[in-house]
Amino acid sequence: MIHSLRNYAFLGMIALPFLFLACEAPAAPVEEETEKAPDIEAAIDSLMSQLTLEEKVHMIHASSAFTSGGVERLGIPELIMSDGPHGVRHEHGRDWVKDEGVRDSSTYLPVGTALAATWNRDLGYAFGSVLGSEANYRGKDVILGPGLNIIRSPLNGRNFEYLTEDPYLNAEMTVGYIKGVQDQGVAACAKHFVANNLEYEREQVNVEMGDRALYEIYLPGFKAAVQEGGVYTVMAAYNKFRGDYCAHSEYLLDGILKTEFGFDGAVISDWNAVKNTMEAVNAGIDLEMGSDLPMLAMGDPDYSKFHMGDTVVTLVNNGTVDVALIDAKVRRLLRTMYRINAFGERDPGAYNTPEHQRIARQIADEAIVLLKNDGMLPLDQSATKTLAVVGANATRKHAGAGGSSQVKAFYEVTPLDGLQNLLGESTAVSYAEGYTVSREGGSDADLIAAAVAQVKDAGAAIYVGGWIHGFSDEWNDNAYDAEATDKASMELPFGQNELIEALLAANPNTVIVLMGGGPIDMRKWQGKAKSIVQAWYPGMEGGNALADILFGNLNPSGKLPMTFPVKLEDSPAHKLAVTGFESLEQDYTDGIFVGYRYFDSYEVEPAFAFGHGLSYTSFGYDNLTVSKENGTVTVSLDVTNTGDVKGAEVVQVYVKDDESNLERPAKELKAFQKVKLEPGASQNLTFELDEDAFSYYDDKQNKWVLEPGTFTILVGSSSRDIRQEGQFTW
Ligand code: BGC
Repeated sequence: MIHSLRNYAFLGMIALPFLFLACEAPAAPVEEETEKAPDIEAAIDSLMSQLTLEEKVHMIHASSAFTSGGVERLGIPELIMSDGPHGVRHEHGRDWVKDEGVRDSSTYLPVGTALAATWNRDLGYAFGSVLGSEANYRGKDVILGPGLNIIRSPLNGRNFEYLTEDPYLNAEMTVGYIKGVQDQGVAACAKHFVANNLEYEREQVNVEMGDRALYEIYLPGFKAAVQEGGVYTVMAAYNKFRGDYCAHSEYLLDGILKTEFGFDGAVISDWNAVKNTMEAVNAGIDLEMGSDLPMLAMGDPDYSKFHMGDTVVTLVNNGTVDVALIDAKVRRLLRTMYRINAFGERDPGAYNTPEHQRIARQIADEAIVLLKNDGMLPLDQSATKTLAVVGANATRKHAGAGGSSQVKAFYEVTPLDGLQNLLGESTAVSYAEGYTVSREGGSDADLIAAAVAQVKDAGAAIYVGGWIHGFSDEWNDNAYDAEATDKASMELPFGQNELIEALLAANPNTVIVLMGGGPIDMRKWQGKAKSIVQAWYPGMEGGNALADILFGNLNPSGKLPMTFPVKLEDSPAHKLAVTGFESLEQDYTDGIFVGYRYFDSYEVEPAFAFGHGLSYTSFGYDNLTVSKENGTVTVSLDVTNTGDVKGAEVVQVYVKDDESNLERPAKELKAFQKVKLEPGASQNLTFELDEDAFSYYDDKQNKWVLEPGTFTILVGSSSRDIRQEGQFTW
């Protein structure tokens, strides 16, 4: 069912004081709602005193596929959830069956890695506000995103849903996303807490890592989600961490998340992540979701059999479990409901609006990364009378696949559509598939020959290939960039290497466009290709954005949010640690050396560096000054567009600790700003860094330490293209 407002069936039964509270300012900004906290707590106290034990227990586990238990007698609604993270998912029945014949298509935003590649905080917020608005319209209380697991291995099937390998960029983009969602009056859900960095045996695998890696790499995104984003809910991951399931981990949930970070919202389990009653009751998990799935598979749809279901009532009644543990969970769920005004009239939201499509388009515009260009791009529209487009990804739609992030897109402009939209009658566009997406996977000599024949004499040739989410939209067809699966290697599937080599031999000017959530091994043809473009999965407007970039109506400004290694073995997760496929015990011996922290410290040349992305113009960096006053280091410089077209540059500020007791990475990102400049225009940029930017986590002392001494500030266009350096002493 589609609601344009919440389901207020219970509203009439709410006690008057709460009604007054809830209706006070339905559209108030989040900050104001937070200020109302004492009133919320009083309202919660009152409800708590009226709830029976059975009702409380009913609230702490699912009541259907995507709802928590409500208490009709007291007007407590169910919390209605939806994936997430890059669009509101299609409607499920309460029983997991896809609803048919309902109006549930939605805005399909570019995926997480694409959002991060914009390096534009405002777009993080805009992304979240589209989701929040559409969630409201569709009657959802919680959007199950953002996904902010660190991109550690190129093989992780869910990397496309996540953002980056870097904890600072992760935090910055996450905070905007969360505020965007929650300012619409819908709860975001930061997931998956924590260290779910591979899909391999995700419900069994145990992750070990030192505290330094935990605090410096894997936690900052979640900390920022809580402390800066004010996220209302967090999802506990499937995997074990130091021997305990994340959903049972008192250390992670009570110790770090709730006590240390001060998180006072609700912790939701990943679907079927709770495995044991006593462990879940004792740990900080507040809502058990999805445990019915295995039961449903066996034909038993009895929701009372949740681990945090009827057994808990018995255990409280016989004195084994203190009811205070259950009360604490219920309070957090009620707090979340008050924060989103679930008891009152809510913003109706909006759905599939031109404005939402415009935002999807702008994110795609700024996400696409120009990896390599020897001057081939942009193509000249008026000089291109014939264009050959090759590759199955030129016509493939990706929205509906990938796992829980699947979106039934309102529409999806493919690369071929986008090119045809742009070129209209002016250019004759031909298309050849070149390869087939099939499980058997190899190259096809006939398809290659047909594609070669097309690109040979074409005025311009564009290849669009890369990864896919799966062979169809069905879960058991997931592959490559998809949930519950990982890639077997970084090798392009379906014989694409052979095809690309043949295309480049026939027409060396063929532009190579790659779709997907992350890097591929390009060794066979990277040197021969003149232009390479990374397009991610760029959402419903992606084809239009790509066409405008290829033909120069738009200047690319995306930057890689992750290192593209030359080959898999260069990736620190695979070089310094035994990662996935081999063992259910995963020891992150790569420690803090994730992504460019490894490549730059160990001097391993990547295919394309973290932060890399070319433009059709050039930028000058001048007049760097670095000064320290009290506890603040001020970095200032001028950036100038030195070329002939307008463009945007992501100015990246890295910090290097010149001397330290503990080993530190060669550089770490601590600030950035995206600036849009007309040709010839300059802008002065100022960054202020506080002591956090210079500290490391000392796992001997269990605290952050700022070691006095000299630090170097490195400012550049990527982690490997440093343009200005300055030093100061702390
Ligand atoms: C995924 C979550 C998702 C949930 C609900 C799980 O399998 O790991 O990310 O939110 O399903 O669909």
